[in-house]
Amino acid sequence: MADTTIRIRTDAPIGTISPRLYGHFAEHLGRCCYDGLWVGTSDSAVSHDAGFRTDVLDALRALPVPLLRWPGGCYADHCHWRDGIGPPEARPRRLGMSCGLTVEDDNTLGTHEFLRLCALIGAEPYLAGNVGTGTPQELCDWLEYCNSQLDTTLTRERAANGAGEPFGVRLWGVGNENWGCGGNYDAATYAREYRRYATMLRHVDPSAELVACGLEDEWNSTFFETLGNRLDLVDHLSIHDYWSAGGPERDFTGDDYYTLLAQADATEAFVQRTAAIIARATGGQRRIGIALDEWGVWHPEARRNGWGAIPGRRPITYEQAGTLRDALAAAIALEGFHRQCTVLSMANLAQIVNVLHAPVMTEQDGGRMWVTPTYHVLHLHAPHIGATALRVVVDGGATIPGGAAAVSGTASTDGTGIAITLINRHLTEGATIALSGIGNAAFAEGHLLTAANPREQNSPDDPDHVAPVPFPVNGNSSDGWRVELPPHALATVRYTA
Ligand code: AHR
Repeated sequence: MADTTIRIRTDAPIGTISPRLYGHFAEHLGRCCYDGLWVGTSDSAVSHDAGFRTDVLDALRALPVPLLRWPGGCYADHCHWRDGIGPPEARPRRLGMSCGLTVEDDNTLGTHEFLRLCALIGAEPYLAGNVGTGTPQELCDWLEYCNSQLDTTLTRERAANGAGEPFGVRLWGVGNENWGCGGNYDAATYAREYRRYATMLRHVDPSAELVACGLEDEWNSTFFETLGNRLDLVDHLSIHDYWSAGGPERDFTGDDYYTLLAQADATEAFVQRTAAIIARATGGQRRIGIALDEWGVWHPEARRNGWGAIPGRRPITYEQAGTLRDALAAAIALEGFHRQCTVLSMANLAQIVNVLHAPVMTEQDGGRMWVTPTYHVLHLHAPHIGATALRVVVDGGATIPGGAAAVSGTASTDGTGIAITLINRHLTEGATIALSGIGNAAFAEGHLLTAANPREQNSPDDPDHVAPVPFPVNGNSSDGWRVELPPHALATVRYTA
């Protein structure tokens, strides 16, 4: 007997799950860009394509990575794009600064290299501009350099650097966290600064989509009020959400486990609140998307951030364990992204390699690569990318602290079938689930991700410790479909005719 029933509402489509909701973020921070992605072209013994680790490229291609934000983060407001063009040996050495780390930066990974990376993995690029130490002219020049079709000194320089055709970068961030590391602005001052930047950027390339820096409700409301009648200058409002209340990265308690999952769940409410502020500001007359362009788990070991008593590791690397619990948290957020896909215009997991909630990890100096359970969660969601999100109704079954149902799900259809991803958030109890609303599907193929303990992770010595396995799906279209989900587990099932 099933304890939980799940009904997929094919009659209630929510909207398209844009590939941009499966975006990623690569910052010049710790070993994300340098060493994790980029090993350089000159003397690297590591197998690479155009300076990027081949094994990492293969893993990212398979994920997939539809969107990639770069170069920060807090780094963006120190970054001067001209430092990263031209012959690598002639590029200036600067202080590479982000989030309290200051390192030597030889600028060998610059605009052309990053856009080559995007081409290699099939990602749409999203460039974050510098407001904190930059000028509107500097950002206009970067936009012209990347996108202009006209014959100018800057576009000739682009051609001389190897790109005769414009790159056509659509997404441009006007600063990053300008309420903090990006200049400690107040909301009204940033809004006026934004209006100036955006006005000038629109003249250079009116088709560029501009992303304004947001924060929480108060900042966001003040930002729009100050912008007044120039809402046409905003295409997306950036918000960030890091979940940091889940205790230690691995040695967490049962309460910590549920706290982290609850924080991931609350991201949807943050998106909804932000959508309400946008709706109020625009009166529904203009679509301004929410760009959740940094999200994920931030454990105190990666860098203590003022929460609780757990000390961060020294030296600070922004690297952390990536357990099954983190992967389930990511999956919970993805459910919310699907439900909010009409207002959420992009989402970028922070960050793509080695730093914070990374799906891909590498040993130092070109050592072994492995993928985290979060990588597998993202991969198991691939059938949803670009598909139409469907409503899912859950009834019965166990509950978790706070009273929510232990089992949740997200479903989509791509015209060839239906995919559903189910999560059992319960720490100790399995769930027996009956599914309906699937129509006359004849085949069901499932994959399960779990482990004996949600504290488990992969490592270079045991890279497949937490990895998907085939997931039995019982039944048929006339008698109904049934599955058994272990505790702290996730599964995706694809039904086809
Ligand atoms: O992702 C790490 C940092 O977190 C980013 O640089 C910044 O935007 C945020 O505070």
